[in-house]
Amino acid sequence: MSELSKLKLPTPKDTGKKTVLAALRARKTVREISGKKLPLQLLSDLLWAGFGVNRKKGPFGIGGRTAGSASNSQEIELYVTMEEGTYYYDAVPHRLVPVAAGDLRKLALNRGQQDMGADAPVSIIFVANIDKLVHSKGYMEPGLRESETQKSYYYVDCGWIAGNVGVFAASQGLTAWFHNCQKDALHEKLKLRSDQRVLFAQTVGWPERGNI
Ligand SMILES: Cc1cc2nc3c(=O)[nH]c(=O)nc-3n(C[C@H](O)[C@H](O)[C@H](O)COP(=O)(O)O)c2cc1C
Repeated sequence: MSELSKLKLPTPKDTGKKTVLAALRARKTVREISGKKLPLQLLSDLLWAGFGVNRKKGPFGIGGRTAGSASNSQEIELYVTMEEGTYYYDAVPHRLVPVAAGDLRKLALNRGQQDMGADAPVSIIFVANIDKLVHSKGYMEPGLRESETQKSYYYVDCGWIAGNVGVFAASQGLTAWFHNCQKDALHEKLKLRSDQRVLFAQTVGWPERGNI
């Protein structure tokens, strides 16, 4: 862990490369991904597009994010895994906080798909923090304490963020491959609590063959 330090991300920048409709036209899954690293600015833009803070005053007296969440509980946490290590995306100060040094990118892939995407520069690991649902600052509907409803909320909320990431990636000529991952191993390596669930991962980089 000592090898990794906090990473302040540059302010997100609108490069205006493509319209939303053009990005949607380009969006598709590509699994052969180049090892070329993402510049820090692009990583910053990607994370902000996914689940950054887009307004200081959102519902229930807390900030708003680029993706909605049940009762604005913002229970999905993004862990960003790269060659040097894995970071937690701390959205309010817009920075990356070190979680584990060393290369965990293979664990972010499916066990049966280790030959694909292993060199991709970044995988985002989606983790549901149940505690944030249970202690939501928003309207405390009974479902927020009930496991089946919690599950429906955190899968929808995860998908919303992944959708943002996918559209932003397509706008930049990147691929964002959404996939299963090695949940138990990641849970252990990231030292998550029992009320945190690893859901999916999304691997991002430049398509190896041709552009999308
Ligand atoms: C919930 C979900 C789980 C997925 N899991 C995997 C996976 O484990 N491995 C994989 O290669 N693709 C996975 N995908 C990607 C889909 O196979 C892909 O999105 C689909 O074939 C449509 O292709 P497109 O994204 O190019 O439109 C998953 C997609 C979703 C929405």
